[in-house]
Amino acid sequence: MRGYFAIGVEGISKAMNVGSLFRSAHAFGASFVFTVAAAYPRGEGGKSDTSDAPGNVPFYSFPDVASLLLPKDCTLVGVELTDDAVELPAFRHPAQAAYVLGPERGALSPALSERCGFVVKIPTRFSLNVGIAGAIVMYDRLTSLGRYPRRPERPGGPAGELAEHVFGDPKIRSKMEKFRDKPPPDETAETD
Ligand SMILES: C[S@@+](CC[C@H](N)C(=O)[O-])C[C@H]1O[C@@H](n2cnc3c(N)ncnc32)[C@H](O)[C@@H]1O
Repeated sequence: MRGYFAIGVEGISKAMNVGSLFRSAHAFGASFVFTVAAAYPRGEGGKSDTSDAPGNVPFYSFPDVASLLLPKDCTLVGVELTDDAVELPAFRHPAQAAYVLGPERGALSPALSERCGFVVKIPTRFSLNVGIAGAIVMYDRLTSLGRYPRRPERPGGPAGELAEHVFGDPKIRSKMEKFRDKPPPDETAETD
């Protein structure tokens, strides 16, 4: 897949939720993870992040929104259930993106929302757990940008290679085949 992504949270209420988000980020191949205005207690978060994401994926802790620093040309994408957010299934993910989610008891701050190039929402009836919301966004990125075959019309996976001779001998289609029951065209006749 082209590009890269990062994911982080602004504020933390429960470290276990952030641990779960970081564990998913590690599994989905995030290039870095981050927190904004939040202290992430690694020991507590490690209870859900058994993969030790901060030990394996670069982890940045930005004390406030003003100090949030992203790589050049990396688009900040807010993930929040707001009226004017773009619905995730209709969203084209930027190749280089950093997703940011809000705290469990709140939402992305206006200051952080303003820094976002886009805000996306998962069309749900009410808000999800922050770790689950992050995992859905990463999965959506994978399925929409990853190189997977188009889904088949019928239930099930893509058809595999057909076994040889399933349909009998191969048919050789020649240019003249369509004229089998008709006289061939007069190739010397003038055409327009
Ligand atoms: C548990 S929610 C915040 C709680 C919410 N403000 C409430 O009280 O109903 C934590 C974070 O998860 C993310 N989130 C949860 N559900 C979402 C959804 N359906 N679409 C986008 N983001 C969502 C947002 O980043 C949100 O700030």
